Amino acid sequence: METPVTIVILAAGLGTRMKSRRAKVLHRAGGRSLVEHVVRTAMQVTPPERIYVVVGHQADQVRAALAPYGVGFVHQAEQKGTGHALLAAREALSGLDGLLVILYGDGPLLTVTTLQRLIDTEKNSAAAGTILTSIMPDPTGYGRVIRDAEGQVRRVVEQKAGTPEELAVREANMGLYCYQARPFWAHIGEIQPNNPAREYYLTDMVEILSAAGCKMQTMVLDDPQEVLGINDRVELAMVDRLLRDRKTRQLMLDGVTIEKPETVSIDSDVEIGMDTIVEPFVQIRGKTKIGMDCRIGACSVISDSELADEVEVGPYTIINTSKLERAVHAGPYSRLRLENYVEEGAHIGNFVELKKTRLGAGAKALHLAYLGDSTIGRKVNIGAGTITCNYDGVTKNQTKIGDGAFVGSNSTLVAPMEIGAGAYLGAGSVVTEPVPSDALALGRSRQVVKEGWARARRDKKQSV
Ligand code: UD1
Ligand code: CA
Repeated sequence: METPVTIVILAAGLGTRMKSRRAKVLHRAGGRSLVEHVVRTAMQVTPPERIYVVVGHQADQVRAALAPYGVGFVHQAEQKGTGHALLAAREALSGLDGLLVILYGDGPLLTVTTLQRLIDTEKNSAAAGTILTSIMPDPTGYGRVIRDAEGQVRRVVEQKAGTPEELAVREANMGLYCYQARPFWAHIGEIQPNNPAREYYLTDMVEILSAAGCKMQTMVLDDPQEVLGINDRVELAMVDRLLRDRKTRQLMLDGVTIEKPETVSIDSDVEIGMDTIVEPFVQIRGKTKIGMDCRIGACSVISDSELADEVEVGPYTIINTSKLERAVHAGPYSRLRLENYVEEGAHIGNFVELKKTRLGAGAKALHLAYLGDSTIGRKVNIGAGTITCNYDGVTKNQTKIGDGAFVGSNSTLVAPMEIGAGAYLGAGSVVTEPVPSDALALGRSRQVVKEGWARARRDKKQSV
């Protein structure tokens, strides 16, 4: 039978060096909160019912951020050390048999491969626990792994408590462990806060278990970068960059062309199809999904949107919470502000803003327009400078334009408004009455032409 794995993620600390009112684990890197990255990695090796997050600072916000994942929580009201966090979890977890993995919520770079290797190393050994370690050129700040004359792991000593000989050891404790749950919970009560900081050190478990006759071992990680915890905003930026590098690299390996990938910023959840080209300085955020054979123009920002195949986005285009069907063209310089639905083959040009608007298949709005709260039919032509006046100062009103209608340049459509299919609006019209299908509407004063007027005026001025 498979050994069940329980994972505890410590996430109760504030993280003083972040200089923030927000709990450290809620800060974002790669488009997700730090703790979400860890939870997602944990979920690749064990079901969410077996994952517990220890919360303290901003517990409600951390719980809310993780609610969609279905993981459990343990409350640690006061943070009296890493051992204290596990003591807080004892009641909820000590009944769970199998393996107990301990991770940190501020270490988002941990890969599934390393986590699985830690679990397998413990599972395939006779040891009561496996400590993830790294041999570091300068391990200052980390706990050091102390071995006896036979090379057996005996203790972990913290930087502050180590003797010079102990501090000369370069094998550093990364703070992640895989324990046999039973001996761990049987002995956790023995941790004492007998150090100058009066903290309960989880690292004391190593000495406690070895003294009880249990073997402890280490798993040495070649590249400790992967288990870097974030302490300040400089490290946050570095980890953000690493996560985004991982993301662009994966996308490129999956068949996406990314020009100057070091300038592009793509969140972890984004999906992009094969043969799509992403130009420099593009940002793609949130849960955006982009199809195959698309082109995303330089400096565009796309958030929480869905683009079907063959969509062309010109440079400097902003797309937010919108859906674009196949072969839509948008930009350069378009703004799809909120919840728009653009049907197949429609074109949106420069300085056109759409808000809560449905633009029909093959419709065109190529220059300088505002289309808000509108339903626009198939093959409609929206002339340059068209404005839907959707707001009357009190409520937002709808505009409907039927299939094949032609809206002349600089039209002002005062909503609520309905323009029938095939209707034709003269340029410069202010339209306040509904327009039936196939009608012509002119909403402007008739042009007056006075023959010779200009010359007469000039002559008069010169004679003075
Ligand atoms: C710990 C280890 C140290 C190791 C280092 C690696 C101990 C005593 N020391 O030190 O040997 O080299 O990690 O990074 O464990 N947390 C809680 N509740 C608490 C205290 C901490 O949830 O009461 C969380 C923090 O939010 C943080 C994590 O546990 O995410 C680690 O705590 P921290 O105090 O940073 O431990 P280190 O001093 O780094
Ligand atoms: Ca730390």
